[in-house]
Amino acid sequence: MKVVQISDTHFSPSKAHFNGNWEPVRRWIETVRPDVVVHTGDLTIDGADQDEDISFSMSLLQELDVPVLLVPGNHDVGHMPGSLQPIDDLRLERWRRLAGPDRFAKDLGNWRLIGLNSLLIGSGHAEESEQVDWLVEMLEGRNGRRVAIFGHKPLFVDDPAEGDTGYWGAGPAVRQQLLELFAAHDVALYASGHLHWAWQGEIGATKLVWAPPTSFIIDTLEREMPGERLVGGVVHHLADGVTSEIVAVDGTTAHILDHVIDEVYPRHATKVVVEAAQ
Ligand SMILES: [Fe+2]
Ligand SMILES: [Fe+2]
Repeated sequence: MKVVQISDTHFSPSKAHFNGNWEPVRRWIETVRPDVVVHTGDLTIDGADQDEDISFSMSLLQELDVPVLLVPGNHDVGHMPGSLQPIDDLRLERWRRLAGPDRFAKDLGNWRLIGLNSLLIGSGHAEESEQVDWLVEMLEGRNGRRVAIFGHKPLFVDDPAEGDTGYWGAGPAVRQQLLELFAAHDVALYASGHLHWAWQGEIGATKLVWAPPTSFIIDTLEREMPGERLVGGVVHHLADGVTSEIVAVDGTTAHILDHVIDEVYPRHATKVVVEAAQ
């Protein structure tokens, strides 16, 4: 079975900077002919506050002639408590109304694909523990199938034993909880986005993949991370095991966030400056 993973498309009708990469990505998906496409979030620029960003982005995804599964990113449903746009009931309701459920489980052949709303993980939101209970149920009920899990945020950035990376990864306690679940249930793949870096590795028997964005890379605004900066997607081949090809898609432009952040995320740019001054 072939799964194409795309991530961090960051579409918007009003901030159209990255929309132009959709056509080459769509054509590439047509060429690959996957069984399913999984979008691992940051579908939008500002779906966390704008209905139109989600509606517009969904209309682009609906141009695909293969089934699409998706989970939200921080720009779609908000992020940590205390951030500029914390995840809350209003934002979750908007996503569900305009994009559909914020998690999924889908059986295809001998595989169970699971999508998690990774913004709930560590959020303290009332639905956080409910999602963990659901995940356990989906893992325990896999009935011999192999499992591939998709979410927006990675479990860690540099080291599975690292401390809390805040914005970037999962906190140590929830990370440990998830890694124990993955090991106990023979999870073959955890694939994420969010970092705008492309990388693959493994922990125990679980392969880890960071999909590249289809939108922008980051130059000096953030620190260097493992892997490489590129714009494209991933083809996961799920058979007895998993092989994943990270692909720089022909015809796309690797926009650089540093050049456009004041237009695309002016409030975030202000916050970075304010935090740097503190
Ligand atoms: Fe992103
Ligand atoms: Fe993100």
